[in-house]
Amino acid sequence: MSVTLRSGDSIPLEMHKVRMVQKVNLKPVEDRLAAMQEAGFNTFLLKNRDVFLDMLTDSGVNAMSENQYAAMMRADDSYAGSETYYRLEAVINDIFGMPYFLPTHQGRACENIICESLVTPGSTVLMNYHFTTTKAHIMKNGGTLEEIVGDVGREINSDVQFKGNICLDKLNEAINRLGKDKICFVRIEAGTNLIGGQPVSMQNMKDVSAICRQAGITLVYDASLLADNLYFIKTREAAYKNADVKDICREIASMMDVVYFSARKLGAARGGGIMTSDEALFLKMRELVPLYEGFLTYGGMSVREMEALAVGLNETMDMDVISQTPIFVEALCNELISKGVPVVTPPGGLGCHVDAGSFCEHIVQTEYPAGALAAAAFIASGVRGMERGTVSEVRNADGTDQLAEMELLRLAVPKRVYTLSHMKYTADRLAWLYENRKLIGGLKFVEEPSVLRFFFGRLAPIGNWPEELAKAFRRDFGDSL
Ligand code: F0G
Repeated sequence: MSVTLRSGDSIPLEMHKVRMVQKVNLKPVEDRLAAMQEAGFNTFLLKNRDVFLDMLTDSGVNAMSENQYAAMMRADDSYAGSETYYRLEAVINDIFGMPYFLPTHQGRACENIICESLVTPGSTVLMNYHFTTTKAHIMKNGGTLEEIVGDVGREINSDVQFKGNICLDKLNEAINRLGKDKICFVRIEAGTNLIGGQPVSMQNMKDVSAICRQAGITLVYDASLLADNLYFIKTREAAYKNADVKDICREIASMMDVVYFSARKLGAARGGGIMTSDEALFLKMRELVPLYEGFLTYGGMSVREMEALAVGLNETMDMDVISQTPIFVEALCNELISKGVPVVTPPGGLGCHVDAGSFCEHIVQTEYPAGALAAAAFIASGVRGMERGTVSEVRNADGTDQLAEMELLRLAVPKRVYTLSHMKYTADRLAWLYENRKLIGGLKFVEEPSVLRFFFGRLAPIGNWPEELAKAFRRDFGDSL
């Protein structure tokens, strides 16, 4: 929660205390430059030992509670029929109220199973916005996708509170144009990741669900970023102000045919799962679990992770827990805005999204402004963010870059990991970088994988701007790291 100080300022308050810590290192700027060069100007390829604040993602790196660790100690190790699995299944049934559950090793494994079961060659998936792994699985199965988020979802700055909402006109138009048989499913992504962690309202889910039910189209919900989205429903949607978080979860699930999630995000553990109330679809998807994941009572997860997940999901029903990331994202965004740095607004969940398109407007999109900003930000701060722009896209058939609609640098805020001084430090270094933004130059690929190239592709700077940037930093900050 946030509290107001006597000065009138509001600060986010940590509703937990830290009883286990991990040492981090802040290396000198010359070492940060060398690490970035070694990593091929791709923050995914940095070694954690060279990173000060790891804000690459909130996936699998959230702080776990004492109760999660305690639960891991009593895990029942067994290939089949583990008591741990039944404890997890009971929690999932209780929270979501869906009768069938399939465990998987992570979120994209759910996408693999769902897409193999539902996507046919030439069919289309309609969704508010794509996520990288989702898109890759749809394409692998011969499908295509259409994004039907409202126009405001594609705007960097807005006052609209639910920028992740699906545009109902676009949904109806697509159903009329394509015909229901060509639409293998409609997908709603909670806390819409690639447009800045922007939430979807309950009202929008109700409207989309009604249209899909009427048309007989399967509705799939990606609940990976549900925790943040629950917080925004409670705080931004008047009708749900006093609603119980668990009741909101049940209501969401009641409107969906399939719900899946990455437990690296939801539940602050690792793993994933698919829920459904459609028995025929459950039986079809179930066949793929032993093939790709593992036996039905673990699905690729360790029993310890399943115990941690069961506790973590119950803890997600607590506003003190789920408010932590959004209020720290908001604090970081506000600090950056006050220093003139352009960010996506309103602040969403997951992390702070810096508008690299405007920050680096002197860099053309084919020279990857968001990738360049991610590299420059690391050199200037030791903070590792993630490129969410054209590097994260795929190439067109003719070999040209598919240009991203938004060039973003995502600074993820893992749950309950960092403190307010970490946010202030990050904002300060980014503000310095903004003042010196003309020093940042473009990047080009030197090694480019054909699938999900952003993960392990290597790039090189165009010119010697990284060296000049490090020199400017040393000049301005003297001996300070
Ligand atoms: N769906 C969404 C909305 C996600 O954000 C992610 C992962 C996945 C599915 C896939 O889950 O990683 O467990 O296989 N997002 C991470 C991120 C990788 O950094 O945003 P996974």
